[in-house]
Amino acid sequence: MSNMALTPNIPQYWELLYEQGKDDWDLGEATPALLDFFNHPACPVSGSVFVPAAGRGWDAEAWAKRGHDVVAVDFCSSAFDALEKLSNNNSNLTALNIDMFLLNPNHEQMNGKQFDIIYDYFGFNSVHPGRRDEYIEMWLRMLKDGGLLLGFFCPLSDEKYSEPPFGISRKELEVRFRGILSVEEKIVPERSAKDRLGDRAGKEEIWLLRKIL
Ligand SMILES: C[S@@+](CC[C@H](N)C(=O)[O-])C[C@H]1O[C@@H](n2cnc3c(N)ncnc32)[C@H](O)[C@@H]1O
Repeated sequence: MSNMALTPNIPQYWELLYEQGKDDWDLGEATPALLDFFNHPACPVSGSVFVPAAGRGWDAEAWAKRGHDVVAVDFCSSAFDALEKLSNNNSNLTALNIDMFLLNPNHEQMNGKQFDIIYDYFGFNSVHPGRRDEYIEMWLRMLKDGGLLLGFFCPLSDEKYSEPPFGISRKELEVRFRGILSVEEKIVPERSAKDRLGDRAGKEEIWLLRKIL
């Protein structure tokens, strides 16, 4: 590799973490808090699902097994290869190797598609804080009017972390979403994965956000 600086903006940054086994966010199975959320009354029973920053795809597969049509995206080969394998075993799960910032319904692999639901676990918090508005704009492009954004935000914290997952305060989330996404509900998950989150465990909330028309 050249002397290119590694930042979370490029796949090589993530590739190195996967290669070196520093992918401690990866539980090797679906997120317990998501499986619990499937039984929550606020969880939509139907609708297409888009999963940005899907990693190896355990959660995307869980949505597919629940019966939803799912498109999941990751731009890092290690993650994408695993995601593609899950996709081969689930006809309603499509795996795409694309930089999610480039996504829009007119992208050649999107065929004009927008989604009823976006499920975001560690997408938003993996993105460099300087790119947050750009990331929210991608959500808005990919979500149907009136669609639901399920943000599993972690860590909710004022603390400035130098590497992902980057912290964000509740206040900053509220300000960023004002006028574009309405906050319908906030849920504190009972099972916050300690193995995955380390000292960030417990600083997690599920926000149900509705795209404002
Ligand atoms: C912390 S991991 C989380 C993976 C998964 N959501 C999970 O919870 O296991 C972040 C993932 O986002 C992917 N990613 C980061 N920036 C991306 C981008 N611009 N486009 C596509 N994927 C990206 C990385 O390759 C990595 O697999």
